[in-house]
Amino acid sequence: MSPILRPNTLDIISHSVAQTRRLGARLGMRAQAGDIFCLEGELGSGKTSFVQGIGEGMGVAGPVVSPTFVLVSVYSTPPGRPPLYHLDLYRITGPQEALDSGLEEYLYSEGVVAIEWPERIREILPIEHLWISFRYLEASKRGLMFQPRGARYEALVNELTRDIYGGKE
Ligand SMILES: Nc1ncnc2c1ncn2[C@@H]1O[C@H](COP(=O)(O)OP(=O)(O)OP(=O)(O)O)[C@@H](O)[C@H]1O
Ligand SMILES: [Mg+2]
Repeated sequence: MSPILRPNTLDIISHSVAQTRRLGARLGMRAQAGDIFCLEGELGSGKTSFVQGIGEGMGVAGPVVSPTFVLVSVYSTPPGRPPLYHLDLYRITGPQEALDSGLEEYLYSEGVVAIEWPERIREILPIEHLWISFRYLEASKRGLMFQPRGARYEALVNELTRDIYGGKE
């Protein structure tokens, strides 16, 4: 893993799907009610793998799957922890459909929200969020860039950076 530091930004290369999941788990362990994680990147860039890690980190019991026909999958967590809402908006036409489908309820909730294809609903995203860009580099290599929007997410990225530097990767 190669973390590169820029103020408030974390740029990492993941060398395997397991490493991407571990990064997700680190984020999941630190996730709080109301957190919004926007996961942008092309098909197969690792977004769902990362959400599987978030689920692990949050203590979701079953596997997090890649939803095909639903926009939202709800995962419960141990008592006292917020639920995980996994939104996969690949098939959504735009913000209007999101509003018509009641997605706002999740965007402004007490859950932890992980959104694939967030650029489809940019206009209705909460202003403060953590934007994570996934980039396909090689067959088993992906670039992950964490960009916080707002003080909560700046603190979170700093914590995550410390976890990775001081961690057992
Ligand atoms: N370093 C890596 N990180 C994440 N996935 C990797 C990595 N290396 C290889 N892979 C493979 O790439 C694929 C990533 O699939 P995943 O479903 O997570 O992508 P996605 O971004 O959610 O795609 P989609 O846009 O279709 O939902 C998996 O088959 C995984 O095994
Ligand atoms: Mg996916």
